[in-house]
Amino acid sequence: VSLKEFNTFGIDVKASHFISIENKAQLIEALQLPQFSKYFILGGGSNMLLTRNLELPVLHINSKGKKVIETTETDVLVEIQAGENWHEFVLWCIENNYGGVENLSLIPGNVGTSPIQNIGAYGVELKDTFHSCTAIDIETQEEKTFTLSDCKFGYRNSIFKNEAKGKYIITAVVFKLTSKNHKLNTSYGAIQQELESNNISNPTIKDVSDAVIAIRQRKLPDPKEIGNSGSFFKNPVIPKAEFDILQQKHENVPHYVVSDTEIKVPAGWLIEQCGFKGKRFGDAGVHKNQALVLVNYDNASGEQILALAKKIQATVLEKFVITIEAEVNVI
Ligand code: EPU
Repeated sequence: VSLKEFNTFGIDVKASHFISIENKAQLIEALQLPQFSKYFILGGGSNMLLTRNLELPVLHINSKGKKVIETTETDVLVEIQAGENWHEFVLWCIENNYGGVENLSLIPGNVGTSPIQNIGAYGVELKDTFHSCTAIDIETQEEKTFTLSDCKFGYRNSIFKNEAKGKYIITAVVFKLTSKNHKLNTSYGAIQQELESNNISNPTIKDVSDAVIAIRQRKLPDPKEIGNSGSFFKNPVIPKAEFDILQQKHENVPHYVVSDTEIKVPAGWLIEQCGFKGKRFGDAGVHKNQALVLVNYDNASGEQILALAKKIQATVLEKFVITIEAEVNVI
């Protein structure tokens, strides 16, 4: 089976076994197949760069279902199956007037993989509405619930990238959303500008979602048109002392203060300063509107994208003495 349709980078690698999973029973059955002990878990395929054919059986998590499991005066708990598309879930929330995920509109990928990297955008992270998730232990096939604190969420990070890595398959996620008195987060400059330019002074959750969609559509390539995995790198967090030196040389360096001793610098800015923005090397390239995003114009191989990523990392290191790490999983 070609995986080209199943990864947003559009990389054409093959899987020797491909099993579509629609519910828990099918998942457990697949995990008990005697001929296999290791699996490749595929969700929305939006955060991976495939560089080789897969010999492991691919389990494509395709379970569907969204339901309200509890309501209070102002809040609602919803349980979403892992195979639901993330953005369709956000739109469902907006339609039902459930607040909390509007800033996370248009993020590619599925609900089941969203906790792994604690997806985030425009001042909001998954952890802000995450209540819990259920997962199947790959080895024992037992179900386990992870609460918010169990997940140890950080910037693009969670337990699923650390001690629980490769051990569980997330089957459903429960979110705590608001049904009344929504707490909007419009702190991000780009959202404010977008709302202002549309003369919206009292935004609804739909207004915020529409603003985010407009900003993303302007800046980020649509994976249906140009293969990509969103931000290829994480924004590096550097010691304040190093940042001060950087700022002396580059007065206008954008940054976010993480703590008294640490500053986050946008990798997109560093990459742009190195001259890569909009550059194309064969079918692999750096997006013209956001240098943090690597793109596959047509038929780039995973190795070609990876070679470009390495060249960018080396150049940023040489010019700024800053190491930028990949955000996508390179396989
Ligand atoms: N910048 C440049 N050149 C570029 C790109 C950015 O100079 O080519 C500068 C911008 O001018 C701005 C700053 O960098 O001053 C920040 O840019 P932006 O607002 O686009 O955000 P980002 O830090 O580059 C992060 C996330 C995005 C998320 C946006 C908005 C990471 C790795 N990326 O990007 O997430 O949408 O903030 O919140 O944290 C993703 O993870 O796939 C993703 C798209």
